[in-house]
Amino acid sequence: MGEIIINRRRYQVAKADEEMSLLRYLRARLGLTGTKNGCEEGVCGACTVIVDGAPRRSCRLKVEAVLGREILTIEGVEAEDGRLHPIQEAFVEAGAIQCGFCTPGMILTSYALLSKNLNPTREAIRKALSGNLCRCTGYQQIVDAVELAARKMRDTGFVARTLSKGDTV
Ligand code: FES
Ligand code: FES
Repeated sequence: MGEIIINRRRYQVAKADEEMSLLRYLRARLGLTGTKNGCEEGVCGACTVIVDGAPRRSCRLKVEAVLGREILTIEGVEAEDGRLHPIQEAFVEAGAIQCGFCTPGMILTSYALLSKNLNPTREAIRKALSGNLCRCTGYQQIVDAVELAARKMRDTGFVARTLSKGDTV
């Protein structure tokens, strides 16, 4: 039996589940349905989660490939007292959410970008988000949202939360 760390919690993974995709495991086994299933073919980015700091497509990862690694899903982005993360606030304020289907993946890709660079150019934002498809917004408001999030994080000295292995069980 292996172990997986998701949103700072440790989970024991049944051997039979190790062959599942991480996307299916999150949604069907753990009820973490904020991670969306858009294409299940690695094309749309809706299923993006962060694995050890990098954005990854959970539909293309088997659970066994992420045993022992740290995963952040959209459910783990807000503060423990329920306050939205500045990136989430910025997406709302910039009107970057329409149907919302792409939003969790967009936010997690943005989270990974801003964890490394709190002053990205619009071009760098577009490049980072190039694998996340949105059929609603035309991307302009999404790029605006990431710029706004970066500004909020700089102005408040907000640092993207560092995951620490197994805070809670
Ligand atoms: S559902 Fe994974 S890339 Fe589309
Ligand atoms: S807001 Fe609908 S797909 Fe992006």
